[in-house]
Amino acid sequence: MSFLKFPDNFYWGAATAAHQIEGNNVHSDWWVWETEFAGKDGGPKERSGIACDSYNRYEEDFTLAKSLNHNAHRMSIEWARIEPQEGIIDEREIEHYRKVLKSLKSKGMSTFVTLWHFSLPHWLRDKKGWGNLLTPMYFARYSKLVAERLGEHIDFFITLNEPQAYVALRHLVKLWIPSMKTTFLDFLDGWVGLIRGHNASYKAIKEVNPSYQVGIVENIMYMEPKRNTLWNKFMCDWRKFIQFRLFFAFTLKNSDFLGVNYYFHDVIGPGDYFINMSSIETTGEVSDWGWQIYPEGIYHIVKELCCYYDKPIFITENGLADAKDEKRESFIVRHLYYLQKAISEGVCVNGYFHWTLMDNFEWAEGYIRKFGLIEIDRENNLERKIRPSAYTYARICKENGIGEDLLKEFNLE
Ligand code: FCB
Repeated sequence: MSFLKFPDNFYWGAATAAHQIEGNNVHSDWWVWETEFAGKDGGPKERSGIACDSYNRYEEDFTLAKSLNHNAHRMSIEWARIEPQEGIIDEREIEHYRKVLKSLKSKGMSTFVTLWHFSLPHWLRDKKGWGNLLTPMYFARYSKLVAERLGEHIDFFITLNEPQAYVALRHLVKLWIPSMKTTFLDFLDGWVGLIRGHNASYKAIKEVNPSYQVGIVENIMYMEPKRNTLWNKFMCDWRKFIQFRLFFAFTLKNSDFLGVNYYFHDVIGPGDYFINMSSIETTGEVSDWGWQIYPEGIYHIVKELCCYYDKPIFITENGLADAKDEKRESFIVRHLYYLQKAISEGVCVNGYFHWTLMDNFEWAEGYIRKFGLIEIDRENNLERKIRPSAYTYARICKENGIGEDLLKEFNLE
């Protein structure tokens, strides 16, 4: 097989989220949860603390990303910094994010900006977060502010990151910020709040400038039935319906594009009628976190999404925990091979963002999960060390495709 080319003007980069890398996100609910519960029952394993100190070291981070030939970058703006108290805007933080965005722009990188990536201002947590009827309005107000003040530096707005995964992990699995009593009703309230939040945010941004591009990001698992029976197939469709199709049904008319985070292969058996973690595959080749590595899945999900929704797609996250960097190179090449296959068959995918630029704070897990193209040496002043796999990805970004030698090396012929 010869060189596999991606479309011209394809966006290549890595994705990050503010709370996971910036450090000292003191006005957020996540910070408060960590402060109260880290290391205890129902709490995260450790505190985020200074994280990667990217709040101060963003210039260094973006210079590295640029040196790795990324032409785009996905980051998030922290609502809790912009609005640390209800209705009070911190102008210094707006200026901070202006500098951050301008730094990317000055390097010729396109900007994909998430407005909400899991952490909320603490004052909202006290009001039940997304479960509060007014939260969508608060979120639209904040979205409008960002669009007005920073929109000129933002190429793509992402309203929400993985809303469905968030409400499930928080209110059903009870892994995230579960210290409040949480019930199925809270799950439903949060779910509806996030749908309304996305729609209100979309409208608010479009009111500022109708040409701004606004989309939403969901965690899409590759689901398949365990057995080829009618009941198994029905269960699989049912799970797709409750896990993302229903959410999309209420939000996609207000989305210019669809962001896909792909991590999981999920095999649905006859009894798996409700959202759970137990059907996620953990056999065969797995990451340090035990998640199965299943590159073909990316092909199937983008093909299916394209048929259903007819929206441009970006892969906004895809990656693995791999501290020794033994599997990342093959992971990247094989996922991109299958992505290119779907594109060559007519699926409209316009960009790929690896999760993540550098090792960071993983929500409930702390720092043990190493997802970075760049290692962060936590013993040594958070020194950034580029992992070997990052260079292979850099080459693919530069050449806008996968070289013949890489295809041979990973038996992709
Ligand atoms: C995704 C999240 C991201 C990171 C990865 C591992 O679900 O969006 O912040 O935690 O998982």
